[in-house]
Amino acid sequence: MNTVTISRRRFAHLLGAGAATALAGPAFTFARTPQAAPVRNGIIRLSSNENPYGPSPKALSAMKEAFALSCRYPDEHADALLATLAKENGVEAEQILLGNGSGEILKLCAAAFTGPGNSKIGRGPLVVADPTFEAIVKHASVNGAEIVKLPLTDTFAHDLAKMAAAATGGLVYICNPNNPTASITPKEELRQFISDLPRETMILVDEAYFHYADSPEYESVIPLIDDHPNLIVARTFSKIYGMAGLRCGFAIAQPEAIEGMQAEQPWDSVNIMALVAARASLEDAKQVTDGRRLNRDAKTFVLRELERLGYESIPSQANFIMVDMKRLVAPLLQDMKQRKVQVGRLFPALPNHMRVTIGTQREMEAFLSAFREVLA
Ligand SMILES: Cc1ncc(COP(=O)(O)O)c(C=O)c1O
Repeated sequence: MNTVTISRRRFAHLLGAGAATALAGPAFTFARTPQAAPVRNGIIRLSSNENPYGPSPKALSAMKEAFALSCRYPDEHADALLATLAKENGVEAEQILLGNGSGEILKLCAAAFTGPGNSKIGRGPLVVADPTFEAIVKHASVNGAEIVKLPLTDTFAHDLAKMAAAATGGLVYICNPNNPTASITPKEELRQFISDLPRETMILVDEAYFHYADSPEYESVIPLIDDHPNLIVARTFSKIYGMAGLRCGFAIAQPEAIEGMQAEQPWDSVNIMALVAARASLEDAKQVTDGRRLNRDAKTFVLRELERLGYESIPSQANFIMVDMKRLVAPLLQDMKQRKVQVGRLFPALPNHMRVTIGTQREMEAFLSAFREVLA
């Protein structure tokens, strides 16, 4: 186990006494163990697809070092992360835009490419799957964009033929693996779609759950960016890197698309803690291999138990599962919450499905106890 402990005195020295008095508790301890998931009010949180094992110990140490730099704007740290990400992804630094979480990237895409009005590249409708991650729909609606929602196919892939037919400029959003279904859109189909779609339509492929996907039918589309000026890929440090509370994500695209998005963004959107933690995380290969393995093991366990109880799930390529409850799920969500297990919200397009984030083994055991009680 890796543990970095900062005494309260040292922390007060670093931050200034005023900020430190806001901290409660006897010590400020950084730890990573499989049981380290913070639980609030005894509630087991399996509702937001977070990583229950926390950030890399290297990220925690990097943040400790950066406390004293909090008085500085984070430009150099942003540049350093851009350089590392560029190298890691085989692109130039000007092809990357950092965001305050990939949620900000989605908002910037909606602002730059959807709705009425002119931009350098052109705005228009938003075409999305149903169900998918809803944030971009909200942003595009605020922007006054027409929203076209198209059901997933029978295998819970994006219906790319229908999406291509509906795309008339503006933006197509492809979430792969998709939230909330944890399903993938096969690589050959996606490659063909990207190469066939007219360049007036921007394509945003959200790869938030990239690291969890292990199907031979799955691939990242980052290598296609070179040949496609209308392709943007979003990634996040919130999932396998365990940094959801820190807020750091990024987009990769050709420079013109990046400029279009950047024009909508405030300066210095990503804070220094998130920047140093993200960069340090990229140096910790174990964060990814451990995260994948622990997720796979806990997922295999819970899927097997659910199957024993007679419940099937959509094949999952992510750190969550979508369980077919064979009845309306809304009342069950409440019943689970009463037993202090919080699972995903209701997704109206799939009213019989319960989305469950894969937590630690212990959390999944607690989930199964509550689940058995609710269905007894
Ligand atoms: C598909 C998808 N994209 C983007 C996000 C936003 O992630 P963040 O803003 O934390 O990077 C989420 C969060 O759950 C998600 O599921």
